[in-house]
Amino acid sequence: MAEHKQFRAIRGVRDILPPETALWNRVEEIAREVFARFNFQEIRLPIFEQTELFARSVGADTDIISKEMYTFADPPETYLEYIQKCLREMGHDGYRKFAEENPDRLRKEIEERGEVKLVSLRPEATASVVRAYIEHGMQVLPGPLKLYYMGPMFRRERPQKGRYRQFYQIGAEVLGRGVSFAADAEVIAMLMTFFEMCGLRDHTLYINSIGCNDQDCRPAYLARLRTELLKVKNKLGPDSQRRIETNPLRVFDSKLPEEQEIIDKLPHIAGQLCAACRLDYDGLKNVLSMRGIKFQENWRLVRGLDYYTQTTFEVTTPGAGAQNAICGGGRYDGLVELIGGPKFSEIKGVGFAIGEDRLIEAVKDSGKLEGIHPLEVYVAWFGNTSEKAQEVARLLRRSGFGVEIPVEEQKLKKSLSIASMKGAKYAVIIGEDEVASGKLTVKRLADGDQKKLSEPELVGYLKSDRRP
Ligand code: HAM
Repeated sequence: MAEHKQFRAIRGVRDILPPETALWNRVEEIAREVFARFNFQEIRLPIFEQTELFARSVGADTDIISKEMYTFADPPETYLEYIQKCLREMGHDGYRKFAEENPDRLRKEIEERGEVKLVSLRPEATASVVRAYIEHGMQVLPGPLKLYYMGPMFRRERPQKGRYRQFYQIGAEVLGRGVSFAADAEVIAMLMTFFEMCGLRDHTLYINSIGCNDQDCRPAYLARLRTELLKVKNKLGPDSQRRIETNPLRVFDSKLPEEQEIIDKLPHIAGQLCAACRLDYDGLKNVLSMRGIKFQENWRLVRGLDYYTQTTFEVTTPGAGAQNAICGGGRYDGLVELIGGPKFSEIKGVGFAIGEDRLIEAVKDSGKLEGIHPLEVYVAWFGNTSEKAQEVARLLRRSGFGVEIPVEEQKLKKSLSIASMKGAKYAVIIGEDEVASGKLTVKRLADGDQKKLSEPELVGYLKSDRRP
């Protein structure tokens, strides 16, 4: 006999069950409605892509790429076996240590051999949107192109409340030649409209500018930052020490309490922006104020992905603990060029991704939004009325109501109690008296209000009594 084994979802991933799924559907429905009003169209993207796409766009030294991706060899010779084989041929024995210390070199080595492709479950979707944009030549469409997406993302993070290994994002991207601070403001306005329609009240929008790649802008700032960091190097932890060389902006992501005071004294990028970036950032702040969108500046907001230029932004909610960012976004002017080559170099982009898992928690806290509950009517039939009951159920479903009808006869009391437990709004009671008189009994379960109505009257009543 087969061994008795109970399966559980693997660590960091979870099932989202009804009735909570109704709230997820409602939130997604609102996103579609709001995004359509801003003329964004949906793009559906693959769940996995070449690893190299993410490494190039998000950045090889980010946590997401260096530690958190689910990567597979394709064809599916096991990844570790393949790495072991490559490393043996490269003359390394301690493959795990080498793989941890040199993820980028290893990836390149494997890709260059060309026998096996590395693919990864997507940790985010901006890279895929830009890949699709280039692949389908969408730059010839009347711009700017405005796209949105929804779906699961995968990051092998340490799981905790609000942080999962499979999580869901609702994101939007604008791509085109004319993208500037005005497009940033438009995207942010759409985001804030969406949050408002989800009933959120206490969220905060933080903005920053991290400048551009011109020598006198971010590179000059980074050189200065590196010099300052070197002065305090021995007071920093190993991650920050490594980042001084690889990516000094990432030091700002540090959550280590002992590093905070040191970080607070570092030079701010806002004071070092080139003239064009300064104008762009001031422009964004002006437009946001003009549109009545409240924001706070946060000079440490450098974001955990490398593709950003100029504007970065984040939205946080209280009560979500350490995982309080419900949305992150920003401009990525160099990304199209980085992925697709110089001929598209004029194309710029801006977008955001909302963490839907965290948003749902915030929506639940605010208590302003209800899930769409599909069950409106429970048909409580008994006696020799099965045919009539089926006919009424058909009529109500055709008229757009969510209806449940028991397959077998039940006592009225049992039907009414099941109807309440299932959250139905009405019970339509059909006994032999109702069939004989042609008048059905409808009972509003919230307050017990009861009426006798003909079939057309019943449809009219249910429609007029419906929640707006
Ligand atoms: P991100 O900041 O990495 O940005 O992710 C956006 C949001 O996804 C976060 O603010 C958070 O709410 C949610 N999130 C991230 N990781 C997890 C996790 N492990 N569990 C639960 N929620 C999570 C991006 O992904 C960029 N692609 C955003 C963007 C679009 N920038 C420009 N366009």
